[in-house]
Amino acid sequence: MSEFLPFTRPLIDDETIEGVAEVLRSGWITSGPQVKAFEAALSEYVGGRPVRAFNSGTCTMEIALRIAGIGAGAEVITTPLSWVATSNVVLEVGARPVFVDVDPLTRNIDLSRIEAAITPATRAIIPVDLAGLPVDRDRLYAIAKRHHLRVVEDAAQALGSEWGGRRIGSIGDFVSISFHPNKNVTTIEGGCLVMNDAEEAALAEKYRLQGVVRCGYDGMEVDLVGGKFNLTDVAARVGLGQLPHLAAFNSRRRHLAREYFAGFEQAGVGELGLDLPVADFVNSNWHMFQVVLPEERLTIKRAEVMRQLHAAGIGTGVHYPAIHLFALYRRLGWKPGDFPHAEHIGRNILTLPLFPAMQDGDVARVIAAVQRILRAHARR
Ligand SMILES: Cc1ncc(COP(=O)(O)O)c(C=O)c1O
Repeated sequence: MSEFLPFTRPLIDDETIEGVAEVLRSGWITSGPQVKAFEAALSEYVGGRPVRAFNSGTCTMEIALRIAGIGAGAEVITTPLSWVATSNVVLEVGARPVFVDVDPLTRNIDLSRIEAAITPATRAIIPVDLAGLPVDRDRLYAIAKRHHLRVVEDAAQALGSEWGGRRIGSIGDFVSISFHPNKNVTTIEGGCLVMNDAEEAALAEKYRLQGVVRCGYDGMEVDLVGGKFNLTDVAARVGLGQLPHLAAFNSRRRHLAREYFAGFEQAGVGELGLDLPVADFVNSNWHMFQVVLPEERLTIKRAEVMRQLHAAGIGTGVHYPAIHLFALYRRLGWKPGDFPHAEHIGRNILTLPLFPAMQDGDVARVIAAVQRILRAHARR
């Protein structure tokens, strides 16, 4: 039997591994010159905007909200179909998330429903580019401008995606990106925040490390409560080794995604009842290839499909269950039925293997297994 195929796997070259060893031998392993170099490379990538690196893509969003002065009494509009970090950060700063259902086609926040959710307490929108498919930035920023709202783009999954021919991160308000190992480039754990000006960047540095500002040889001042969110030089060196591969990684991902579309077409997607993602080969970085299972046409549930795929040597993932149905969020008042599209997708979405080192033959193997399982368990 062929080797187990995970749904994703980072690809780190020998030069990066050697570079990490050099940092480890250098005597300076926490935040230092590698972080500065990584931030400079990221800033260059996003057209010169200020960028600071952090130890997660979660804290970057929390810090963006703090920089924007968003806290108790404020409402922040976001999607219920994301990693729970997206709305947890809103709670973390003391504000209230306001969920808006997703568009069943894009699986991203339904922009046409945002304005109805705006109240006098609304301060910001956190859109999420699920699987790297960007939210329409023109419509999003038109709404934000009309209602004087800040935007914290949760572009955790969207490094290398584009809107209107411009890179995500090079346009917009705050842009948060994650470098978790599943992402298109990794620092093991880590993230970065793209901001608007030097003032915001200085605030971000304070929130990143205990609120501390240093000056001269011995000057130190603290005037706000910061956290412990700095990235290490070891992690930054991994990121520096990854960035030059981003374009090639994403082009390989696009190729594999095309193979999925062609293969599912041949397998008769219509007959299988599977929902495929939007076939976007202009804007998306193809962070994930996700299908939505036809629950009404199957005699088994998603977990059993996953188990059978696993038994066939194929790893899959769930990104994500609807956030508002988690116990924490139900306690805060949300309930089943609130966001039907997010709930349906959250119950049935399945992430199939997609990563740069995958072979074309792997795609065919996944499609054959999915086809076999869905056919064997179709309702008659
Ligand atoms: C959509 C989304 N938002 C936020 C995050 C948080 O990023 P991190 O895991 O780096 O904190 C992730 C990644 O895990 C994500 O996929």
